[in-house]
Amino acid sequence: MNILVTGGAGYIGSHTCVELLQDGHEVVVIDNLCNASRDSMNRIEAITGKQPVFFEGDVRDRALLDLIFAKHHIDWVIHFAGLKAVGESCEKPIEYYNNNLNGTLELLDAMRAAGCRRIVFSSSATVYGDPERLPLTEDCRIGGTTNPYGSSKYFQEIMLSDVYRSDNTWTIVLLRYFNPIGAHDSALIGENPKGIPNNLTPYIAKVAIGELKEVGVFGNDYPTPDGTGVRDYIHVVDIAKGHVAAIDHIRQSGVHTYNLGTGNGYSVLEVIHAYEKACGHKLPYTIKPRRAGDIAACYANADKACRELEWKAAYSLDDMVLSSWNWIQHCKNKENN
Ligand code: NAD
Ligand code: UD1
Repeated sequence: MNILVTGGAGYIGSHTCVELLQDGHEVVVIDNLCNASRDSMNRIEAITGKQPVFFEGDVRDRALLDLIFAKHHIDWVIHFAGLKAVGESCEKPIEYYNNNLNGTLELLDAMRAAGCRRIVFSSSATVYGDPERLPLTEDCRIGGTTNPYGSSKYFQEIMLSDVYRSDNTWTIVLLRYFNPIGAHDSALIGENPKGIPNNLTPYIAKVAIGELKEVGVFGNDYPTPDGTGVRDYIHVVDIAKGHVAAIDHIRQSGVHTYNLGTGNGYSVLEVIHAYEKACGHKLPYTIKPRRAGDIAACYANADKACRELEWKAAYSLDDMVLSSWNWIQHCKNKENN
């Protein structure tokens, strides 16, 4: 099938392009490169032997979308393009809502005009807010988001569901990712945030490689087994395969919602210790106060995706952190050469 991947040069998008190409699909990418590099396309080609068709541009650029849909018969859209930093979204809510909400609206309008009515949307476990119960199932209450990024995901889910309600020929797939981490086994694609990372594993990676001094553990007084926050970390390649599974399995119109997680929760300290095994040395850490907006624990029940999409996360936490370690070493070597 012909798949348009918005944000396909980014972290999850590039891994998904690899899996789509390896599954025999044709891939067209649109990305404005605000958080990625054109070189992602070469790296995808180095892994798969094929390069996606690439359009540099913004999903809010309607003329460009119309051109893409006119040139390519698109069967499905996978929509990753968006801004994703929680802290930044609190400082720049207008930019976040503009990019994320207007981007999705423009895309939906262009799809309707082109007669393409199948979309997979990158949602997040953040839409569950403070979890109603654990593990989270897709029918748990959503909303109660605490930052503009999270609210934009919640609003986009509502927008997409309303579109289906207005025209039930649409096929809308909402994939709620838990905590994607790690990198491709080739160490050719991964996530290397500029500056000081906000998320746990990129931060640990920079401590492991010697760029940062110690990991700050945000709170050890949560009602969890060791007092530190618990999350459902999932390998980015498993997330990517979840998209392929959705496209390969979903044949009926409707709004289809799936959690993409492993079903296992790991604490901050467990992740640090797993990373120590991968990199072969101790990682210094100190306990800091809780981070505002954090919840104690969040992990998925991913049985629905297993049942309906025949998808199940395959990688362990050790695999995830080892791939992260291989990737950060690769980035460091490249910087030094
Ligand atoms: P990313 O920043 O690496 O990828 C997003 C890509 O979209 C980037 O390449 C960026 O250049 C592009 N982009 C942004 N705005 C655009 C626009 N208006 N037009 C065209 N391109 C644009 O982020 P990611 O981690 O790969 O996340 C992909 C999607 O998954 C995002 O929607 C994100 O909110 C969602 N998500 C990510 C996580 C996570 O932990 N990484 C968790 C849940 C959901
Ligand atoms: C965060 C976002 C979420 C987003 C996800 C992926 C918040 C509240 N949530 O999820 O919306 O979808 O990133 O981008 O920001 N931790 C430390 N030290 C650190 C960093 C994190 O102890 O330096 C802890 C956190 O307190 C948390 C866990 O590690 O318990 C995971 O944090 P993080 O990787 O930032 O992910 P989330 O907060 O789950």
